[in-house]
Amino acid sequence: MPDIQKPAHVAELIRTQRATRQYSQREVPEEDIRTILNAGRRAQSSRNLQRWYFIVVRDRERLRRLAEGGKYAEHVRDAAFAIALVTSDGGSAEFDLGQAAAYLQLAAWDLGIGSCVTSMHYPEKAREALGVPADQNLNVVLSFGYPAPRENVQPPKKNGRKPFDEVVRWESWS
Ligand SMILES: Cc1cc2nc3c(=O)[nH]c(=O)nc-3n(C[C@H](O)[C@H](O)[C@H](O)COP(=O)(O)O)c2cc1C
Repeated sequence: MPDIQKPAHVAELIRTQRATRQYSQREVPEEDIRTILNAGRRAQSSRNLQRWYFIVVRDRERLRRLAEGGKYAEHVRDAAFAIALVTSDGGSAEFDLGQAAAYLQLAAWDLGIGSCVTSMHYPEKAREALGVPADQNLNVVLSFGYPAPRENVQPPKKNGRKPFDEVVRWESWS
């Protein structure tokens, strides 16, 4: 048996975690940010190469500039903090980053902190905001923060996922 310190409730976290794009002003303690980062760096990766860097951004002006790197990234500007996912590789390294992103988001949700994946449609702007050299890819940023009070937030769409039988096939394509 794995050495699990507290009751495992991963399935519940997965079931309830939805994209958060409206954040409260409440600061996230650095200890919690570190907990989230530790989850991300524990993700599996192809050949265990761990070709990733996680750049934490809390400075408001830097968050504003980073938000300009995406077409649908206003929530990055208003987040308590963001984590830019950086890798020098494509292919399987991008897959690895996806796994790290899921861990980062689930670890955050475990602490009551919401998040949203954000595509950097203008990666050069994002790189410039964080001083990332041109030989590194910065295509995705995660925004994080405590969700804004319910009355100020649009509820997530119901039935947020396709039905089980539409996406799952057993044994073969047909
Ligand atoms: C690769 C990827 C890119 C995404 N890019 C953006 C984005 O640029 N802006 C945004 O607001 N949400 C973005 N999202 C969030 C998705 O829209 C969201 O995860 C999806 O609609 C499910 O939403 P839900 O968690 O509320 O069900 C992205 C998600 C992924 C996985």
